[in-house]
Amino acid sequence: MNEKAVVIETPGGAEQLKLVDVEVGSPGPGEIRIRHHACGLNYIDVYHRNGAYALPLPARLGMEGAGVVEAVGEGVTHLQPGDRAAYASQPPGAYATARVMPARAVLKLPDSIDFETGAAMMLKGLTVQYLLRRTLPQEGLKPGDFVVFHAAAGGVGLIACQWARALGLQLIATAGSDEKCALALAHGAAHAINYRREADFAARVRDITGGRGVKVVYDSVGADTWEGSLNCLAPFGLMVSFGAASGAVPPLNIGALAAKGSLYVTRPTLFTHIATREATQAMGDDLFGMVASGQVKVRIDKRYALADATQAHRDLEARVLTGSAVLLP
Ligand SMILES: NC(=O)c1ccc[n+]([C@@H]2O[C@H](COP(=O)([O-])OP(=O)(O)OC[C@H]3O[C@@H](n4cnc5c(N)ncnc54)[C@H](OP(=O)(O)O)[C@@H]3O)[C@@H](O)[C@H]2O)c1
Repeated sequence: MNEKAVVIETPGGAEQLKLVDVEVGSPGPGEIRIRHHACGLNYIDVYHRNGAYALPLPARLGMEGAGVVEAVGEGVTHLQPGDRAAYASQPPGAYATARVMPARAVLKLPDSIDFETGAAMMLKGLTVQYLLRRTLPQEGLKPGDFVVFHAAAGGVGLIACQWARALGLQLIATAGSDEKCALALAHGAAHAINYRREADFAARVRDITGGRGVKVVYDSVGADTWEGSLNCLAPFGLMVSFGAASGAVPPLNIGALAAKGSLYVTRPTLFTHIATREATQAMGDDLFGMVASGQVKVRIDKRYALADATQAHRDLEARVLTGSAVLLP
């Protein structure tokens, strides 16, 4: 069969993405071959493409997909040929008609979840799972607590708004337009701030919280929001820096953490959390439960042909997308 995959020869702009013919072999020990029905689009794909996260070259792209298992290698017991499956996983290579990959992070997809939803929710939904369930301040979070979540109308963001509402949290969303703020509110955010219009979002957060500040800031914007995010935190608050869509966070002045009230900082990544099959399955079961119960609805606002990956990257970087987007092989 004539297989296709998106590759880069050199890091750079979206024009570096090329759809090429590839061979897809048989799975080795611990691997599967999966035929994709849909592939997820994620901001990490931009960091891989532009070299912010360096990959050995030439490189394939894409960390999220859903489809049907075609073959399993020796030692794989949790999947069999014909299974519907979905994943968020290293190494990159999800922008493809089919691929061979480690089985460890691939989960059976419940029948109630279609392939496009599966491809749109695994990396983003597992990220929200570990953020809101496991990346917590000293004494945890309880209903009524305030958190700040930046870029709340994006793929990760809209899942976070809904999951936070299900936990009873008051999520203060930030987003880059009034329309995006309205979207975050419609998905469960308690408050929303357009941080392109209101640059001092920390002052608004202080107003909303009666001057106290929040217990956690979940910040994936990076350079543009770092300082303001620290200013949103209550004493002993937790700064969770989990991405850098606007550029790398400046070097940490550790003394600032004392001056602003004995703050904590962490820089987590999903891949530490899904390092074992058992952990991935437990997190996936939690995510599937949230989706099956209707508490989290995965919104797909844009579908692209796999051949149009360049346009998808341009749109993602231009901040014109909301919710999740998928590439269709
Ligand atoms: N560490 C982890 O485990 C992990 C896992 C998954 C995702 N992430 C991070 O989470 C973030 C969200 O991922 P996603 O795939 O769902 O993407 P996304 O939120 O759909 O897109 C990124 C958003 O970032 C905002 N943004 C702010 N400044 C920007 C700038 N200068 N250029 C481009 N975008 C800017 C934009 O929203 P506004 O216009 O509303 O500002 C944009 O829509 C990314 O930073 C990603 O790297 C981290």
